[in-house]
Amino acid sequence: MEKLLVNGNNLLGGEIAVHGAKNSVLPILAASLLVEGKSVIHNVPKLSDVDESINILNYLGAKVKRENSTLIIDTTNITNNAIPEEMMRKMRSSIIFLGSLLSRLKEVYLCYPGGCDIGIRPIDLHLSSLRSLGASIVENGNCICCKCQNLHGAKIILSFPSVGATENIIISSVLAKGRTTIINAAREPEISDLATYLNLCGAKIFGAGEGTIEIEGVDRLHSAEHTIIPDRIVAATYMSIASINSQELIINNVKPSHLNPVIPVFMEMGCKIYLSKDSLKIVSPKRLKRVRTIKTMPYPGFPTDCQAVVMAALTKAKGTTVINESIFENRFKHISELNRFGAEITVNDRVAIVNGVKNLYSANVYCTDLRGGASLLVAALSADGTSTIGNIYHIDRGYEDIENNLALIGADIKRINHEKKGEKN
Ligand code: UD1
Repeated sequence: MEKLLVNGNNLLGGEIAVHGAKNSVLPILAASLLVEGKSVIHNVPKLSDVDESINILNYLGAKVKRENSTLIIDTTNITNNAIPEEMMRKMRSSIIFLGSLLSRLKEVYLCYPGGCDIGIRPIDLHLSSLRSLGASIVENGNCICCKCQNLHGAKIILSFPSVGATENIIISSVLAKGRTTIINAAREPEISDLATYLNLCGAKIFGAGEGTIEIEGVDRLHSAEHTIIPDRIVAATYMSIASINSQELIINNVKPSHLNPVIPVFMEMGCKIYLSKDSLKIVSPKRLKRVRTIKTMPYPGFPTDCQAVVMAALTKAKGTTVINESIFENRFKHISELNRFGAEITVNDRVAIVNGVKNLYSANVYCTDLRGGASLLVAALSADGTSTIGNIYHIDRGYEDIENNLALIGADIKRINHEKKGEKN
């Protein structure tokens, strides 16, 4: 079982680059099924979730070739309309293949998706939206059978701006007959990136990034080339690391406007942020200040994906911060692990109270989910002594080559293969 071994409290600094956004790549890979031809996608990070999506594409009949950070995807021959359960359960994003396979082959068989255990994560909005577009869906236990001869446009009002449901509706409606309107659509930058890619392929999607999206169905999509946007969650993770482990860090390959929801929080913590076109510099104070309250919200609110990493930084702030997790009902699993470093965090339902402490101490901890795992890394880098982090396959789902990237800015961190009898994994 692999672990990260971290010698904490090294002063970090210099420059670090952010890779392409995982949450953009995954729906775009699913959407590539709509194109009867080649998609060339640049800035694709090497992540286990990306590998799982490529496995699904290959299984369905696509040919995928990687050249460094570019993927060349040939979806000319798609023959399979079923995805095996073990592939579906590897990640939440597998559910986006429902819309793309339905549009391409008119009949799909799959089961409920997996992904981080951060809440119940139903897919009711995905299924009701596809039904509005004309699909007939039969759920049989864990299996979903979805059929449709001709998808048609519809007006869909989402009761919550679900990212995944918005992506599934966009993907299912670009080749549908007529106009689709999504009201209360998710506004995350990854939605806009999906629309940019599909529009480059010939789709007609208007208003992505806003609360109302209009899609005019077209007859076919053609080959295209697209570059994935930078990963704003990875950028915010590096900002969290910098805020308690460095005096100054330059973070390259970022889109500053995508970080608007998190920058004010770091400024309230006492950090100075200097923005350029595609990079930022974060200058950290001697000790962070507490933030009065943080509430996770759909974009452009504070992202739930940044809750854990920012919380890890705030464990060392002067004063008490209240963090309210409003998106997922079970996204505080990292807290008991953060407390092993000497952090003082208590939880009441969806509210965490973080009492800042002066020092964190080394601990042996285990990742509970992807971003929770990253929060342990933020803490370990700032703890006195040597820590180990287990179950790092969670971190590998969303951070490319994390130990070597952090080593470049001075972190003393290495990946070890560690097997102990009776050890939890
Ligand atoms: C995506 C992101 C994830 C991020 C989340 C919220 C990807 C691959 N994942 O996940 O990193 O944390 O957005 O920003 O892009 N819901 C329902 N019914 C549904 C769908 C969602 O009730 O049919 C609820 C969920 O349980 C959750 C909330 O809506 O409470 C947000 O979920 P959603 O926006 O759909 O997140 P994901 O697309 O799963």
